[in-house]
Amino acid sequence: MSSALTDLCRYPIVQAPMAGGPSCPQLVAAVAEAGGLGFLAAGYKTADGMYQEIKQVRGLTGQPFGVNLFMPQQNLTDPGALEVYRHQLAGESSWYETPLGDTDACGDDGYEAKLAILLEDPVPVVSFTFGCPSRDTLDAFAAAGTYTVVTVTSPEEAQAAQWAGADAVCAQGTEAGGHRSTFRDDPETDGGGTGLLCLVTQVRETVQIPVIAAGGLMRGAQIAGVLAAGADAAQLGTAFLVCPESGAHLLHKQALTNPLFVRTTLTRAFSGRPARGLVNRFVREHGPYAPAAYPQVHHMTSVLRKAAARAGDAQGMALWAGQGHRMARELPAGRLVRLLAEELDAARTAVSTRSTQ
Ligand SMILES: Cc1cc2nc3c(=O)[nH]c(=O)nc-3n(C[C@H](O)[C@H](O)[C@H](O)COP(=O)(O)O)c2cc1C
Repeated sequence: MSSALTDLCRYPIVQAPMAGGPSCPQLVAAVAEAGGLGFLAAGYKTADGMYQEIKQVRGLTGQPFGVNLFMPQQNLTDPGALEVYRHQLAGESSWYETPLGDTDACGDDGYEAKLAILLEDPVPVVSFTFGCPSRDTLDAFAAAGTYTVVTVTSPEEAQAAQWAGADAVCAQGTEAGGHRSTFRDDPETDGGGTGLLCLVTQVRETVQIPVIAAGGLMRGAQIAGVLAAGADAAQLGTAFLVCPESGAHLLHKQALTNPLFVRTTLTRAFSGRPARGLVNRFVREHGPYAPAAYPQVHHMTSVLRKAAARAGDAQGMALWAGQGHRMARELPAGRLVRLLAEELDAARTAVSTRSTQ
């Protein structure tokens, strides 16, 4: 690991920020206590909600941790396309007996207010998703002593993040669960994304700053693979979703290893931005018709997803999952961190033994 990353955690293992509840303070603290780097997800939260969680983590552990922010999105949405999707979802609305959410109230996810809090009362690490902050913002974090990470999905985005002054990039492969973190959601140019091993290698050859690899990583041997390809650490989301400390809905946790759900896909069905999740009824029926309209579609379907969860209906929920979901192990987060570290060690030893034979 690079020196600054080494200072942040004992093992090169990062627990991904997971908005919507999974990466709660208990999960973050358990990972940090075990020697990994845990991330709170500030996305969809108010600035105050984010700050309350930061204070909870500080009460649970003295170890370093991170906070992840969503970059504000340009509003390029075609109102006609949104209206058509509203009609598409009319049946869901009557089935769950709930009106669709309001799309006029979409703001910038409280970006400026969250920045102000994080600069006033700094945390060790801040990462950014869906874009790259300005050089001024990254400089302000550097002055506050905060380590910054920008999530990227291509060597070009990595280059831009390095130029803007990020301390590290998180290279997200197409295998990753949850939203693709492209700087722009452009249906014309994003053909589904690059696989992690290829992406890490390209990003490593493009930038000089540390690279954190994310997407489909469930075992220590896979972590050894991305480290050998040039990554400095590995970020895992789905692997931590099933931990008892994770705040994910029980049905979501169960679905990850339920043989009924055999496939993941990238879909705009729930949020209007491509995100990888288990294929269920909602994705099959609405995915093909969902417009590129984030965060409007997220707000439109939010009530439906909550109603489906209340009804115990996993077929109507957003079951975000990476391609490795079937390898998920339901272990306490601290034990999972230690097991991954042991597997990583074993894989490295096996490789060096083979190479000396
Ligand atoms: C349920 C869920 C929610 C996520 N939310 C966020 C988020 O708020 N911010 C972010 O940067 N990445 C988010 N991600 C993506 C992760 O940062 C990471 O790229 C991904 O989990 C890696 O792939 P894996 O799930 O196969 O390990 C989320 C992933 C999942 C599964």
